[in-house]
Amino acid sequence: MVNEELIRAQLKHVLDVTDYRFLGTRYQGKVRDSYTQGAVRYLITSDRLSCFDVVVSTIPFKGEVLNRIALDWFERSKHIVPNHIIGAPDPNVMVVRECKILPVEIVVRGYLAGSGWRDYAAGRPISGVTLPPGLKMSQKLPEVLLTPSIKAPSGEHDQPISEAEIVQRGLVTNELWQRVREIAFALFELGTRRAEQNGLILVDTKYELGLVDGELILADEIHTLDCSRYWVAQSYAENFERGTPPEMLDKEPVRQWLLSQGYKGEGPIPNFSDERRSQIARHYIASAERILGATLTLHPGPVGDRVEQALRAYSR
Ligand SMILES: Nc1ncnc2c1ncn2[C@@H]1O[C@H](COP(=O)(O)OP(=O)(O)O)[C@@H](O)[C@H]1O
Ligand SMILES: [Mg+2]
Repeated sequence: MVNEELIRAQLKHVLDVTDYRFLGTRYQGKVRDSYTQGAVRYLITSDRLSCFDVVVSTIPFKGEVLNRIALDWFERSKHIVPNHIIGAPDPNVMVVRECKILPVEIVVRGYLAGSGWRDYAAGRPISGVTLPPGLKMSQKLPEVLLTPSIKAPSGEHDQPISEAEIVQRGLVTNELWQRVREIAFALFELGTRRAEQNGLILVDTKYELGLVDGELILADEIHTLDCSRYWVAQSYAENFERGTPPEMLDKEPVRQWLLSQGYKGEGPIPNFSDERRSQIARHYIASAERILGATLTLHPGPVGDRVEQALRAYSR
């Protein structure tokens, strides 16, 4: 059980923005801050919560929890594809090989949800794939789908793109793309199997692959709650038959709350009370424990100070 007081006390210690110029050139993503120094990138997972591509709040322990899921999955998937990990000097940090990220995001789907469902419901193909009629929201797909999207410049939403167009436009060579799709399906299969063992469904996810010295490697994050949807397996069938939404481990409930406040990514952000932030933290921690199939020992206290110390020691 997640410790209530630990979370409350952590509200004031969350990691929002970092500024560690001693690490190199800084780049701020929605959730992670990167610093690059030649061939090395320091990826720091903050406690920022992003919804509709906007940072809406900070959540105690979120960064640590997500980074730990990614590290665990990089370790478990390295027989399928080599990855960017060099080291992990702190629970919130990954030191990685800087690579040239392919300009497409590799989205894999086992179920009809999110933007895949929205495209299908509007009668559009999903990244060039046309599905049979009559499928319902949250339905298991007849087969696992690869539905890539093209990375949009910061501030804009990614756009779906078909596999054929990726090759035609020369974004990725045909040979490389064949390797990418093999890796993507193998990773998703592995993710699905482990999720099953932990009573979960890996609904869909996004991989980022990149090139370093001509070698294709898995970069970014893998199977975390920020890049994947997970549902609870036990209640899935019942909900599906009833037409009610599945029990979700991802941030869909936060999105729903924001929508109920009239927020869709523009205008003033609704206020997240301490109670709400604590509740979201509990949800993230409990979800991560289910994904990992283990109890997490958290690292309370001022995250920024701890991360900075670890990185000063590491980069010396
Ligand atoms: N090994 C790597 N080499 C280069 N870039 C990477 C690597 N791993 C991850 N990245 C990039 O680092 C950034 C991570 O920060 P994130 O908060 O996810 O940003 P975004 O808002 O762009 O999703 C992403 O732009 C991702 O593509
Ligand atoms: Mg990202």
